[in-house]
Amino acid sequence: MSNKFYELFGGSIYQSASSKLGFSVVHRKLLALIPKKEHLNILDVGCGTGKMLSHMASTFPASELSGVDLSTSMIRFAKKKYPNISFTVGDAENLPIENESFEVVTNSISFHHYHYPQKAVDEAYRVLKSGGQFLLVDISPRKPKVLDFLTTHFVRDGHVGFITPNNMRSMFEKAGFENIVQHKTGIPTIWITVGYKIS
Ligand SMILES: C[S@@+](CC[C@H](N)C(=O)[O-])C[C@H]1O[C@@H](n2cnc3c(N)ncnc32)[C@H](O)[C@@H]1O
Repeated sequence: MSNKFYELFGGSIYQSASSKLGFSVVHRKLLALIPKKEHLNILDVGCGTGKMLSHMASTFPASELSGVDLSTSMIRFAKKKYPNISFTVGDAENLPIENESFEVVTNSISFHHYHYPQKAVDEAYRVLKSGGQFLLVDISPRKPKVLDFLTTHFVRDGHVGFITPNNMRSMFEKAGFENIVQHKTGIPTIWITVGYKIS
């Protein structure tokens, strides 16, 4: 399952466009929800060019950071730009990662591209260690139909479907996450959902 848009425009074009779209604001809001610890190992799924991981590197300097993205051009760029972070090409719905490998898994503005979104939440649960935290930020309109129509027909970026905040919560519950909390970001329709793998 490849995504032509991100193969063509991944890398430097995406890196500068994402700054203009204000994604760094969203990244910082998400990072503020990760408890400060001396050492953490963190996986960012759908990491794009690795920008959020680069913010993590300044916030958690002693941490081990990894990113996975479906787009080879995103990962090629990320590897060159951030050589101290580990990057792999892979699918959020079938992560090339062993069970219980990470303490924190994040996912930023990528979820609306997934054909089997529940599978991606299940995968985040699988690769988290017990006690681990999953933080997902995405565009989650309460009534997605109009935004889905506009995105599918005019942006054509491999968009599949936006998930409402309520449905996102249900997916987290179905995967096994507990203590789920949803946060507004200050940007309309962009929500952060956080859940914990307790057992
Ligand atoms: C809008 S970009 C967001 C990139 C980055 N997370 C950020 O916040 O700037 C969406 C990313 O999701 C990736 N993506 C889409 N479908 C994917 C999948 N099934 N598995 C992993 N990554 C995927 C795309 O290649 C793209 O890099």
